[in-house]
Amino acid sequence: MTGVFRLASLPIATKPLVSLRDVRVVLGGQPILRGVTANIAPGRITALIGLNGSGKTTLLRTLVNEYPHTGTIEFHCGHDHSQPYPEAIGYVPQRLTLDARLPLTVRDFLALTLSRRPLFLGISRATAEKSRRILERVGAADCLDVPVEGLSGGQLQRVLLALALEPQPELLLLDEPAAGIDFRDQRKFYDLIATINRETKVTVLMVSHDLNMVRTYAHEVMCLRHGAIQCQGAPEEVLTPTNLALVFGAEMQTLGAQYRD
Ligand SMILES: Nc1ncnc2c1ncn2[C@@H]1O[C@H](COP(=O)(O)OP(=O)(O)O)[C@@H](O)[C@H]1O
Ligand SMILES: [Mg+2]
Repeated sequence: MTGVFRLASLPIATKPLVSLRDVRVVLGGQPILRGVTANIAPGRITALIGLNGSGKTTLLRTLVNEYPHTGTIEFHCGHDHSQPYPEAIGYVPQRLTLDARLPLTVRDFLALTLSRRPLFLGISRATAEKSRRILERVGAADCLDVPVEGLSGGQLQRVLLALALEPQPELLLLDEPAAGIDFRDQRKFYDLIATINRETKVTVLMVSHDLNMVRTYAHEVMCLRHGAIQCQGAPEEVLTPTNLALVFGAEMQTLGAQYRD
């Protein structure tokens, strides 16, 4: 087991949006995060990679305060705010816990989520307008009258992304956002994330298993191994044969052949 290391060329010029120091999480009596220390750069797309079970989802859920942790998580947000905590964190989970068999249209689903008004009172004009607007932003306006169960993987992810972007978050957490999407639509989805990042400057932390997409879209890569950061840096510094062998095992080494150690 090699120790945690940071790559040489990584002085972060601006203050990180989030800094984690020795973050530890125990679930079911098992240490899951074992001292995560990392900085998440503001306004950039950071990809979080690592084997299944390495703690990626646990790390995202810890950032939205769902799991108790030790160590420190500091947010350095741009707004004037008494709490050093983001106004909003958008979160698209790895799996939809909503029962997709619910006989709801996307219009109903958004109305339920965006307003406190019971659905039997009907959808207010303001909520209907907001639903249409947030779907348009992610190129899914045509989904409004589709039953949730009838959405394709790509459409469902766009609807969930639309919700995660309302209200405008400072940090957007995406847990394997393209996992349920047809191969040919995956690139379009990542293009959408890149556009949103560029236009709104939202900081994105995204779990992905697709190293080609990570190379194309991420500005930074963080590798988790056994609940700790193995390495962090620009894709060309991190996705090298040696690092990939350390993070994923020797059989993944060839995927890093594009970059030199
Ligand atoms: N609520 C929980 N209770 C106990 N163990 C958990 C819980 N959630 C996750 N784990 C365990 O934590 C480890 C990391 O899980 P997870 O964060 O989902 O990994 P990843 O997203 O990298 O695949 C796994 O071994 C998983 O079984
Ligand atoms: Mg996961």
